[in-house]
Amino acid sequence: MKKKIALISGITGQDGSYLSELLIKKNYYVYGIVRRSSSLNTSRIDHLNGNKNLKLLHGDVLDSGHIERVVSKIKPDEIYNLAAQSHVKVSFEIPQYTSQVDAIATLSFLEAIRKVNKKIKFYQASTSELYGNSKLNFQNEKTPFEPRSPYAVAKLYSYWIVKNYRDSYGLFASNGILFNHESPRRQVTFVTKKITRGASRIKLGIDKKLVLGNLYSYRDWGYAPEYVDGMWRMLQKNKADDYVLATGKSYSIKDFINKSFNNLDIDIRWEGKGLNEFGYNYKTNKKIVLVDKKFYRPSEVNFLKGNYSKAKKSLNWVPRTNLNMLIKLMIDHDYSYQKKLI
Ligand code: NAP
Ligand code: GDD
Repeated sequence: MKKKIALISGITGQDGSYLSELLIKKNYYVYGIVRRSSSLNTSRIDHLNGNKNLKLLHGDVLDSGHIERVVSKIKPDEIYNLAAQSHVKVSFEIPQYTSQVDAIATLSFLEAIRKVNKKIKFYQASTSELYGNSKLNFQNEKTPFEPRSPYAVAKLYSYWIVKNYRDSYGLFASNGILFNHESPRRQVTFVTKKITRGASRIKLGIDKKLVLGNLYSYRDWGYAPEYVDGMWRMLQKNKADDYVLATGKSYSIKDFINKSFNNLDIDIRWEGKGLNEFGYNYKTNKKIVLVDKKFYRPSEVNFLKGNYSKAKKSLNWVPRTNLNMLIKLMIDHDYSYQKKLI
């Protein structure tokens, strides 16, 4: 059987790294688009270096001409568009750039597919951020969107342009509406990794405190390798569609902090409110968690909890790693990594 060819944008990111491992294991030939940078940005995929089924190409998704040339040259069976300015808070600082990468670049891929070969299957990295201000207990594929950031508004454009090209031109283009998913490979500017790394450093005596923003938003956190498997499953269907991937459980940032420190045998006692709320080490009475408004966002997404029934039914996809398991995985990794640095 002919080896399948996949093209991944965002291959150097958390999801891109797990997806390339998965596809190589499934006997694909994988091409990945890597941005040229003055310092190396391939640390998440360096372990795949030299793999005969992986080829990295320099490129930027803002270069639509390049995208079309790449699609036309490598003739992929599947394209996974994971490239994004993926940080919600940063999107308030660079809204126009975020819109170019997270919205317009998606259109460039769809246009390339339309011109080169309409049979190429396309996965778009959509997001639970689309639900933004939703007040519902659960969000699913039918929940109305209420984006709350330039990031989410740009991703909403991508969501609709994917649907539009599917309806207008018959492209196989699917939106994966993924709720937060994390791993030891998560970048440290996201709250989960900031907490597991910070707690590990406090336990080891490297840092004295962890400074965070809003402790009262709720997120539905899953484990990234399982979510990239869901992406692949979406493209194995005969018909394109949109799917939510989530765990169906939601916890606050404060829950995540408590559980992370508990994993390191530290109990936290909370006192105060708002910017004057502090987390104390129960045993030593030292202040170890502080709040700083510089980490607040101009508008916040308060509550996310996904209903993944459609993915379960149609893709046979279920999340297997609960929050306690995820935190343990991340703490184990961060603690031993940080210990080696001492
Ligand atoms: P990530 O770790 O931030 O990775 C983003 C990737 O995009 C990196 O490889 C980055 O390259 C690349 N990129 C950014 N701008 C680019 C450009 N102009 N040209 C080419 N590549 C560019 O994000 P992730 O967590 O893996 O998420 C993957 C995708 O899923 C993103 O689209 C994100 O918005 C979406 N998503 C993520 C989650 C989640 O919880 N993780 C949930 C829902 C949706 P560099 O390494 O050079 O920066
Ligand atoms: N990053 C960060 N840093 N967030 C903090 C902090 C902090 O110091 N303190 C509190 N938070 C709160 C944020 O205000 C937000 O409510 C929550 O923690 C989660 O923030 P992030 O981890 O930055 O993730 P996100 O939910 O905004 O976005 C992630 O998930 C989306 C899917 O829902 C990203 O991966 C997006 O790309 C993705 O689309």
